[in-house]
Parts: sequence; C-alpha cells; structure tokens
Amino acid sequence: MNRIFSGVQPTGNLHLGNYLGAIRNWVNLQNDYECLFCVVDLHAITMWQEPDQLRANTREVTAGLLAAGIDPKKNIIFNQSQVSAHSELAWIFNCVARMGWLNRMTQFKEKAGKHKENASVGLYAYPNLMAADILLYRATHVPVGEDQKQHLELTRDIAQKFNNDFKVDFFPLPEPLIFGEATRVMSLKDGTKKMSKSDQSELSRINMTDSADDIAKKIRKAKTDTEPLPENSKGLEGRAEAANLVGIYAALSETTTDAVLTQFSGDGFAAFKQNLADLAVAKLSPIQDEMRRLMADGAYVDEVLRDGSERARKMAEPVLNEVQDIIGFLRA
Ligand code: AMP
Ligand code: TRP
Repeated sequence: MNRIFSGVQPTGNLHLGNYLGAIRNWVNLQNDYECLFCVVDLHAITMWQEPDQLRANTREVTAGLLAAGIDPKKNIIFNQSQVSAHSELAWIFNCVARMGWLNRMTQFKEKAGKHKENASVGLYAYPNLMAADILLYRATHVPVGEDQKQHLELTRDIAQKFNNDFKVDFFPLPEPLIFGEATRVMSLKDGTKKMSKSDQSELSRINMTDSADDIAKKIRKAKTDTEPLPENSKGLEGRAEAANLVGIYAALSETTTDAVLTQFSGDGFAAFKQNLADLAVAKLSPIQDEMRRLMADGAYVDEVLRDGSERARKMAEPVLNEVQDIIGFLRA
C-alpha cells in the first residue's frame, strides 16, 4: 500500500516555491496515492509565532491547499497539533535519533544562525518531529522540495534504527518524491538563496496572496543579467537568476527549461519578464480567487481541519499503540 504524507508550515507568506516545489505536486499525486497533508503548526513554533497570526496562517495555508485543488474528502487535510500522537512519537524519536545525526542538519545551521545557544530546543529536534509525522502513518512516499531531502534521509535513519533496535520490521523506509522543474525556486533578488517565507525583502518572493500588479512588479524588478536568453540550458550555467526565471516559466507552463529556451532564445529579459508575468498571473489568479473566497468562509476551512484531524487521529492511534507495545510501555 502506497501512502503519502507531506507538510507545510503555517508561518505566513505561502509562496511560489511552496506551490511549484510541493503543493502542485500534491495535487497531481492525490489520484494515485492515499494522502495526508498536514499544516505543521508544531513545527512552526520552533520559531516565535504571534498566536493570532498563527491561527490566521493556519487557515490561510489550509485555504491555499484547498484552492490549489486538493480534495479534502479524498485526502486528509489537518493541523498537526490536533493529533497528539505526533508529539508522542516525536518524543520517542528524540530517544532514537543521535545528537551526531542532528548536528549535521544544514537547515538548523541556517535557521539558528550565529547564535545557536539562543535557538529553541525544538528547532534542533525539529527533524525528529518530521520523522514522527511521516512514520506515524507508516507513509511510503513524501513529496517535498529539494530543501527537505536531508530531513528525509534522517527519517529513514530513524526508521531503520528503530527497526534494528527492537528487531522488528515495523516502519517502512519512506522515499522522497522530488520532481518538477522547480524543486528549488530561488529568491527573485538573489539567485543563490532559496525563495523563503522569512526573507526580509517582499521583492524576493511571489506570495500566493499577491495581486496581479504585485506579481508583475516583482517579476519586473527581479535581478537578472544583461545577456539575452541562451539557446539551451547549458547557456544558463553560472547565471543563477536567469536560470531561476526560466525554471519558473517552465514549471508554470508545465514544460522543460530547454523547451522554454527554444521559444525565447535571443530575447532580452525585458520581453521575457513580461511573458513570465502574464503567465504567472494567468496560472495563479484562479487559485488566488478561490483562496480569497475560502478565507472569507472561515467556518468551512475550520470544518475541513476538524474532520481531517479526526480521521488522522483514528489512523494514528493504532500505530502509536503498537509502537508502545514494541518499546515495552505497559498499557494496563
Ligand atoms: P515550508 O514553507 O518550509 O513549510 O515548505 C513547504 C514545502 O514547500 C516543502 O516541501 C518545501 O520543500 C517546499 N519549498 C519551500 N520553499 C521552496 C522553494 N524555494 N522551492 C521549492 N520548494 C520549496
Ligand atoms: N519540514 C518541512 C518544511 O519545512 C515541513 C514538514 C513537517 C514536512 N513535517 C513534514 C514535510 C513531513 C514532509 C513530511 O518544509
């Protein structure tokens, strides 16, 4: 049985990278797999979140998933904190994973920055919680953007060590699904940095809630070089910003980078950016309209999460019970 689990943090500014790197793939996978999509609020609080903002962002991200086309009847959409088994299994994994494994996590190093002592313990242990999310449902496949690859490897290490330590064949080793032309969408202002929710500069990212004018403006102001577009992808080497814009075009139009270059080779960026802006607005605006409609109907979004949490809890409970038996917790 193939089962998918994936998650997105409700930390504001759902952006084009989230959509192209993850959410759009989820929409396409929902027909072939049993899927759980989780708004990971427990992950969000590894960094400070204003309570009202966290609630609003949880609804906004959920609306984004629904608006992108994820069917809440066919799939389970829920927020992590409402299924306490995630926290319980995460604790167990805190005792399975080794310090040395977590010390290698590049995302922790990036997010903690220079002052590691001031980072929350949760930020450090975060990959164990992510492993718990996935393994709690014994998911076999995890569709994510490129930046989550290392966390998926850790998840497999945890599953393997648990199975070995207790001499069981309990957890599957989940496979990452990283595909599409935009597995790593970069900042519009700096082709060496990934597009991220937390970038200080609004011009660095296209938010799923941006107006058509804002999208066009951000693309117009995106950093590029002065060369025209090359004939093929080899000509994009060493041109990170150009490669990023062409990649976004390819992903939005569901073709390849080379096909885009065949069409635009020799053009300057002014013309290409105009085309890209038109394409982005055309592709995103139906999703944005639906997101706005859903956000105006908070009760519906809340009901999706309530129903999803209930269904997720039912799936999680027997797995957690089995884990407790394997470990030797007395369930009297
Ligand atoms: P996050 O915003 O960190 O919760 O990420 C949610 C999903 O979007 C994960 O699968 C990430 O790998 C993916 N993602 C985040 N940023 C990007 C990006 N710049 N390019 C591609 N995928 C991304
Ligand atoms: N760590 C992921 C991110 O920041 C979000 C996430 C949490 C996740 N749990 C997950 C993704 C489980 C896939 C599977 O993007």
